[in-house]
Amino acid sequence: MMKIIGLAGSPRKNGNTDVLVQKALAGARAQGSETELFHLNELAARGCQACYGCKKAGKCVINDDLTNVFTAIETADGIVLGSPIYFGRFTAQTATFMDRLYGYIKPDSTSSLGAGKKFGLVFTQGQPDAGLYTGTTEATARVLARVGFEAGPGTLVGSGLREPGIARENEQFLQAAFAIGQELAGR
Ligand SMILES: Cc1cc2nc3c(=O)[nH]c(=O)nc-3n(C[C@H](O)[C@H](O)[C@H](O)COP(=O)(O)O)c2cc1C
Repeated sequence: MMKIIGLAGSPRKNGNTDVLVQKALAGARAQGSETELFHLNELAARGCQACYGCKKAGKCVINDDLTNVFTAIETADGIVLGSPIYFGRFTAQTATFMDRLYGYIKPDSTSSLGAGKKFGLVFTQGQPDAGLYTGTTEATARVLARVGFEAGPGTLVGSGLREPGIARENEQFLQAAFAIGQELAGR
C-alpha cells in the first residue's frame, strides 16, 4: 500500500493550510493510500544546528520531534507540504522542517532520501493574486528537489484566504487539493 505524508506548516489547526493539506490526504486515501498528518507547529523541534553529523549518518542526527517525521517520510511514497505565506515567505515552522532536510544531502551531493518519493505543495495567502509569491513557492520546490524528492502534482496556491478555515467554502481549492493527493497516490 502506498503511503502519503501530510505536513501542515501553519500554527492554526483547522486553518486554511490544514484544511487543504487534509483534503489532499483525503484524495490520497481515495486512491487506496495510507496517510499520516503532522502539524509542524505542535512539534518540539530545533532548527538545523550545522553540526554536519548527517554527512556521516546519512540523515539528520538531532533527536527531537522531527525525528519521527523523518522516519515516516523514509517509509513513504510522497509528501504534501503546506504553508501559509507569512511576509511573502513560508512560516518559521516550515523553514525548520526544510532546513533539517539537509540531512539527506550526502557529502558527494547526491541524496540519501531514497528514490521515487514525490512532493506536492499547498500554499495559502490572504492576498487575492495567486502569482504574488511565486519566488517563494518555486524556492520551496527547489529545496525539495535538491533533497531528493521528485516533482509530482505541482503547487496549489489558495489565494484570498484570510479567516481561519474559509478554504472549506472554496470548492475550487478543495478539488485542486484533492487532486494533488490523488496524483501523489498514483492516479
Ligand atoms: C504573520 C503573518 C504574515 C502574513 N503575511 C502575509 C503575506 O505576506 N501575504 C499574504 O497574502 N498573506 C499573509 N498573511 C495571511 C495568511 O497567509 C493567510 O491568512 C492564510 O490563509 C493563513 O493560513 P492558515 O489559515 O493555514 O493559518 C499573513 C498572516 C500572518 C499571521
